[in-house]
Amino acid sequence: MVQRILLWMMISFCQVMVIAAVTDPNDLAVLNALKSGWENLPPDWKGSDPCGSNWEGINCTDSRVTTLVLAGMGVKTTDIGDIPSLSMLQYLDLSNNKEIKAILPQSIQNLKNLTTLILIGCSFRGPIPDSIGSLKQLVFLGLNNNSFTGPIPPSIGNLNNLSWLDLSDNQLSGPIPVSNPPAPGLDNLMKTKHFHLSNNQLSGPIRSKLFNSNMSLIHLRLDSNSLVGEVPEELANLESLSELYLSNNNLNGSVPELLGMNSIFYVDMSNNSFDKSDIPAWITLPSLTTMVLSSNRISGTLDVGNRYSSDLIVDLTNNSITTFTQSSGYNLSLNLDNNPICEDGATGRYCSAGKPDPPDGLPSNECAQVRCGSNKVLSPNCKCSSPYTGTIFFFSHSFSNLDNTTYYTTLRDTLISAFRSNQLPVDSVSISNPTIGEYLQYRLHIFPSGEDYFTRSAVSSIGTVINRQLFSLPYYGPSFFLDESYCCFPGKKSSKHGIIIGVAVGGFVIVLLIASAITYAVYQKKQAKKAKLSSPFTSWGFDSSDAGDAPQLKGTRWCSFEELQRATNRFSEENIIGSGGYGKVYKGTLDSGHVVAIKRAQQGSLQGAQEFKTEIELLSRIHHKNVVSLVGFCYEQGEQMLVYEYISNGSLKDNLSGKFT
Ligand SMILES: *[C@@H]1O[C@H](CO)[C@@H](O)[C@H](O)[C@H]1NC(C)=O
Ligand SMILES: *[C@@H]1O[C@H](CO)[C@@H](O)[C@H](O)[C@H]1NC(C)=O
Ligand SMILES: *[C@@H]1O[C@H](CO)[C@@H](O)[C@H](O)[C@H]1NC(C)=O
Ligand SMILES: *[C@@H]1O[C@H](CO)[C@@H](O)[C@H](O)[C@H]1NC(C)=O
Ligand SMILES: *[C@@H]1O[C@H](CO)[C@@H](O)[C@H](O)[C@H]1NC(C)=O
Ligand SMILES: *[C@@H]1O[C@H](CO)[C@@H](O)[C@H](O)[C@H]1NC(C)=O
Ligand SMILES: *[C@@H]1O[C@H](CO)[C@@H](O)[C@H](O)[C@H]1NC(C)=O
Ligand SMILES: *[C@@H]1O[C@H](CO)[C@@H](O)[C@H](O)[C@H]1NC(C)=O
Ligand SMILES: *[C@@H]1O[C@H](CO)[C@@H](O)[C@H](O)[C@H]1NC(C)=O
Ligand SMILES: *[C@@H]1O[C@H](CO)[C@@H](O)[C@H](O)[C@H]1NC(C)=O
Repeated sequence: MVQRILLWMMISFCQVMVIAAVTDPNDLAVLNALKSGWENLPPDWKGSDPCGSNWEGINCTDSRVTTLVLAGMGVKTTDIGDIPSLSMLQYLDLSNNKEIKAILPQSIQNLKNLTTLILIGCSFRGPIPDSIGSLKQLVFLGLNNNSFTGPIPPSIGNLNNLSWLDLSDNQLSGPIPVSNPPAPGLDNLMKTKHFHLSNNQLSGPIRSKLFNSNMSLIHLRLDSNSLVGEVPEELANLESLSELYLSNNNLNGSVPELLGMNSIFYVDMSNNSFDKSDIPAWITLPSLTTMVLSSNRISGTLDVGNRYSSDLIVDLTNNSITTFTQSSGYNLSLNLDNNPICEDGATGRYCSAGKPDPPDGLPSNECAQVRCGSNKVLSPNCKCSSPYTGTIFFFSHSFSNLDNTTYYTTLRDTLISAFRSNQLPVDSVSISNPTIGEYLQYRLHIFPSGEDYFTRSAVSSIGTVINRQLFSLPYYGPSFFLDESYCCFPGKKSSKHGIIIGVAVGGFVIVLLIASAITYAVYQKKQAKKAKLSSPFTSWGFDSSDAGDAPQLKGTRWCSFEELQRATNRFSEENIIGSGGYGKVYKGTLDSGHVVAIKRAQQGSLQGAQEFKTEIELLSRIHHKNVVSLVGFCYEQGEQMLVYEYISNGSLKDNLSGKFT
């Protein structure tokens, strides 16, 4: 009976293997061709069964490749190969590979099942093929930040399912296509919520058809192009619009009417030639938080009424406004600099509002400022690891006080929970270098959990989570992410030579350690009383400007006095496991649950700062079975403590008995 069951199990298992393991020969050939033509593909692309052996970045359904995600992997190629013949592909994301300098071929039309095409931040060139309009299942099309040229294909209007259209940051030219039945145009895109066409060379007038009342646009970005003429009044048809960008064009006539847009919160029409003399009535819309009309030709009297929202920001710099009826008692943030009303020593607070100060950024983490090894950075959770870094660009934000940390913590927490809910091994995220220009941008450090580096598929998925906007984030508009090539994919450097060198160096370090211990023991006697605790550790930093003082540590972290106090139950007698001329050794449990041995130097045995630092650096580099490894140190409140891994047998005593230090 048992044998029968076993046999049955074996047969079923083999059947499962056979069914799941065979990749369609055509798809296999396509991937193998990529493997020989593209550089920097994942090293696990081995064998003859991408679907069965789970090649990184590839997912299959019924032996056919349905997902190809190689975002941020440093792929290098001038040719996208035969990807268009992966005919069951649904999801293609090659974003953040600046070395993909290819054209998008007409044959892309073969990907009939494609729902998502993300090529953000590569170097695609040439025209966007007209055939893209046959990808009827497309929901998300992100071609921004490439070098596409030529017109926007009108056929994009055939993409009935499209929700997101981003063609910004390219060199597209010509008019914005509208339909001319039977020829399609962008006004046919009834389900699309985002039109991002910024930063191209689009020209001509904006056609009234573009603003069809059946459209569902929430974000409309036409800024930084060469559009001319008046903005059609049909714009007011877009009742769900929340953000509107028309800045940096040559638009003229009246400032467009937006009354009826009850969700609008961010409007930028700066640097055009709008000349309506009254301030537009839509300033009273309760949803509005930011209105930028700087560098136009708006003249006459400004009357803001009193129905504007109290946290409204209005920028009217560089216009022709001569009078302001409520020069006192208004409470919006108003800037009228560079208008006639602010000339000749005018003192209104609206005249000197100026640009907001650059924000300070986030408060830094509360870890000790230790220095991590090469390619490693201290995470907000005080762990050295290799973060994935890059810049997140926000199209807009609804707040003016960039120093309010709520906005940073919200962003950070939202990203972390988005990563975690997509099963990504992210430990923490830090945000720095806020900059405001065309975009609000922050530098992101995304730290791995578990291992101290990310795998390729994790890096890829992180890019996808941000670029695909898989989270909902208050206070900010949509964003995109451009990375800095990831330093530290596993399997990049380790080699047999590395191991041999490692062993040799390890042996050398042990000899060095013993030698230095002897030297130190002699030295310590002389130095004992001179120890000065203030310098130079007070300035241990982890940025390069401080490289001179920061100890070079490997896997060793700083511990606070309080933490070690907690760990040892206030250094209670019961926790003492050894003592000697140098001081006492305590057994303790860190907040993390880690059991450790803490060697606390007593007064009189304190070392000089430089010696202590050298010792920590030396100990932190040793990982050898006969030497307990140093997991941390404490250097504050007049204390010098070393925290070792706790080993319960006798070897602990040998190692801590003071022979070394
Ligand atoms: C492939 O599928 C697995 C399981 O459904 C999923 O966890 C993983 O994220 C997918 N990989 C890609 C690259 O989409
Ligand atoms: C792919 O498209 C074909 C039609 O072209 C359709 O029959 C099939 O169901 C689609 N497959 C998936 C997985 O959506
Ligand atoms: C595309 O739209 C059609 C109907 O318009 C619908 O049946 C199909 O499921 C949609 N595809 C996607 C990927 O949303
Ligand atoms: C991508 O966007 C960034 C930020 O706007 C810009 O500095 C860079 O030049 C862009 N690259 C391309 C190829 O458009
Ligand atoms: C909007 O949709 C309705 C119903 O589908 C249709 O009758 C109307 O013609 C459409 N309007 C425009 C401007 O296309
Ligand atoms: C607006 O610009 C268009 C095109 O540049 C021009 O023909 C028209 O005369 C301008 N209108 C006004 C009122 O300046
Ligand atoms: C104003 O817009 C034009 C494009 O119409 C652009 O060339 C120029 O740099 C912009 N000026 C400012 C100050 O942004
Ligand atoms: C002021 O606006 C005009 C267009 O109205 C523009 O040409 C000029 O460059 C702007 N000046 C500044 C300082 O932005
Ligand atoms: C200013 O804003 C506050 C709310 O912050 C509001 O109560 C007050 O009425 C406003 N003042 C005026 C003059 O609108
Ligand atoms: C910071 O912003 C939040 C959210 O808008 C707000 O609730 C909070 O009061 C602000 N804090 C300060 C100090 O302005």
